[in-house]
Amino acid sequence: MSGEWVAAADVAGIDEDDVTRVDVAGRVLAIYHVDGAFYATDGMCTHEAACLADGFVFDGAIECPLHQGRFDIRSGKALSPPVSRDLRTYPVKVEGTTVFVCL
Ligand code: FES
Repeated sequence: MSGEWVAAADVAGIDEDDVTRVDVAGRVLAIYHVDGAFYATDGMCTHEAACLADGFVFDGAIECPLHQGRFDIRSGKALSPPVSRDLRTYPVKVEGTTVFVCL
């Protein structure tokens, strides 16, 4: 169902400038904590099957661990080859200590 808010992570589970993999509703997501805010994208790279939560967060972007393609964490935009397809992003809200993602 689209537009459903689901609990995805605990705020304490994601360090600042870090990313974690979350499996919710049959999807793999990546939840980020950047500049005091939380963001969510699809968890798998759009190039090949790599888990972005195994990559590196810097300068507002996630670098894929497999071929070092980069995506903007906020917009999902593909920033550098070999990635060319943007990453899907999801709205995020925090209530109490829980990070919710709208699927
Ligand atoms: Fe991510 Fe190739 S799998 S850049």
